[in-house]
Amino acid sequence: MTTGSRIPGFYRLSIAERRQAIAERAGLELEELIATVRNAGLSTTTADKVVENVIGVYGLPFGIALNVVVNSVERLVPMVVEEPSVIAAASNAARMVRETGGFDAEMLEDLMIAQVQLFDVPSPVHACEKLKQAGPALLQLAEQAVPGLVARGGGPRGLEVRNLGDGAVVLHLLVDCVDAMGANLCNTIAEAIGPTVAELTEGTLGLRILSNLSDRRRVRVTCRVRAESLALRASTDTTRDGLSVARGIEQASRFAELDPYRATTHNKGIMNGVDAVVLATGNDFRAVEAGAHAFAAKSGVYRPLATWRAVKDELHGQLELPLALGTVGGTLRVHPIARLSLELMGITEARDLAMTVACAGLASNLAALRALATEGIQRGHMSLHARSVATAAGATGDEVERVAERLSERGDVTLDAASQELSRIRDVSP
Ligand code: MEV
Repeated sequence: MTTGSRIPGFYRLSIAERRQAIAERAGLELEELIATVRNAGLSTTTADKVVENVIGVYGLPFGIALNVVVNSVERLVPMVVEEPSVIAAASNAARMVRETGGFDAEMLEDLMIAQVQLFDVPSPVHACEKLKQAGPALLQLAEQAVPGLVARGGGPRGLEVRNLGDGAVVLHLLVDCVDAMGANLCNTIAEAIGPTVAELTEGTLGLRILSNLSDRRRVRVTCRVRAESLALRASTDTTRDGLSVARGIEQASRFAELDPYRATTHNKGIMNGVDAVVLATGNDFRAVEAGAHAFAAKSGVYRPLATWRAVKDELHGQLELPLALGTVGGTLRVHPIARLSLELMGITEARDLAMTVACAGLASNLAALRALATEGIQRGHMSLHARSVATAAGATGDEVERVAERLSERGDVTLDAASQELSRIRDVSP
């Protein structure tokens, strides 16, 4: 088996050749891979069991980001995304990072938060004290609610009490959900301990639900890129030009650090990579999005999740964000492509998934900032966009590239222009 996540010229292969290359790299049977990705991976019958009022399934492109190395392990990274250039850009950035050994990632904490709300608490300070004293008993009660999780080595690990004022008290149960995303586990625990918590505080029991600000389940990723790798290909003095690109990326980072308007777009670029892998693995992207943006605003000002600095002849980047992801349960039970995605990455543990997802986020951010700090985003974006517009106009096979090229030359990437160019090509073709 050929190993590794570097496959030069992958984008030039046909879909059949790509499938074969990926099956070989991942040590999977080609027929199995083909059968899994066929028909968007999900039958209407299965979809009907997952949500309500189903009338079909909705397909999205499923591709592989290459070149990713996480903590010295090669990973083929599956992505589901409708935006052109996201997969190519992440692969490109990951190639630069692998030249210095790849991404370094760590799980800073690995606990989910289950919340129990109490209101109309007559003596909140006293109630908080009582809850803290009852900690061991509450943890025991919580454990009894999730015996399966405890058997798998997880379970409640601690508790925190917050006095929100105005008679409102909230209890946080910190839960190690092991390889589950943990929403159901947290909700089960919160509901199980709720009545006892209310009794102890003499307040009224309110909500019992996980918090999607999963800031106790965080990943940090760092990477280094040689300045010369950042230079644009056309340049003659790659080291000097690379340094100016590194400084440009640092300035882009500083812009986001100073301005929430820019920080939002900067973080959107990170989420391009994050969400694509989260979706490919059947995880809850709304939860990840909500958590990431709340974390970005936790200081009271919305901040960039990733920052970059030019350091001597290198560019250093770092990203920290909450990631509540699972490698068991949820959509994974029913979606064959979600399971295939984990197999392609060689991942079974949720923490490895979280670290790889964060790397995809940092790679996407790097690619976007490099483009923005140099020639701008539109050139690369438009040539890829041109292919999807050409397809939308009805181009097939070779026609797609030919129409896309003409649209890029015209600088007019619209459906009308694509239809005109397609007619011209067909008129002159025998
Ligand atoms: C587009 O999907 C993402 C970017 O806008 C991100 C950024 O501006 O950093 C290019």
